[in-house]
Amino acid sequence: MAEQKATNVTWHDHHVSREQRQKLNGHKGAVLWFTGLSGCGKSTVANAVDQMLHERGVHTFVLDGDNIRMGLNKNLGFSPEDRTENIRRIGEVSKLFSDAATIVSTAFISPYKGDRDMVRALLPKGEFIEIYVNASLETCEARDPKGLYKKARAGQIKGFTGIDAPYEAPEAPELVLDSDSKGIEELAKEVIAYLEKAGILAI
Ligand code: ADX
Repeated sequence: MAEQKATNVTWHDHHVSREQRQKLNGHKGAVLWFTGLSGCGKSTVANAVDQMLHERGVHTFVLDGDNIRMGLNKNLGFSPEDRTENIRRIGEVSKLFSDAATIVSTAFISPYKGDRDMVRALLPKGEFIEIYVNASLETCEARDPKGLYKKARAGQIKGFTGIDAPYEAPEAPELVLDSDSKGIEELAKEVIAYLEKAGILAI
């Protein structure tokens, strides 16, 4: 748990309620938390889902690992402590989007179960949807879209997830996407079907 450092701060309730924001947008807010190894397809599926929802008039946004690490989280590396802080900040930002009745897709490896559970605990029940993008290490390494597995195997990157740093697979995610054998569009449609069934796309 991050320490509360600031004193003499008071929580201010919003005048516009979350229900009013949902009503205006015509749907609920939610966090689609994509997790999986580097190269498993998290960002690609997240962006495909985002586009499908956008085309349906849903208010959406994407928070993506590499991009956020160039801005908000540029002072964080890949030590276990920094990864935890990375996920804590993204969790808080995601909550703001969900509070604003937006469907936010996040694409971070988020290798530690405890960190993902911490974000789940931040959000009202049903608003955190953990999506395990499941591709084997062999598949991710064969794809190696950024050439990072090759570098990690050569010892040029230390502490690379799946090679010499752990990935703790989700035990009870809301959705598991089989990225070894299915294509992006099919996987994105599975996410949309889940959202429809869960009643998130209506109010
Ligand atoms: S997380 O572990 O803190 O959730 P995050 O998703 O933000 O990671 O960033 C992962 C991306 O950073 C990878 O897709 C890859 O491009 C890059 N990267 C650089 N170094 C590492 C590393 N040691 N382990 C994993 N990914 C790394």
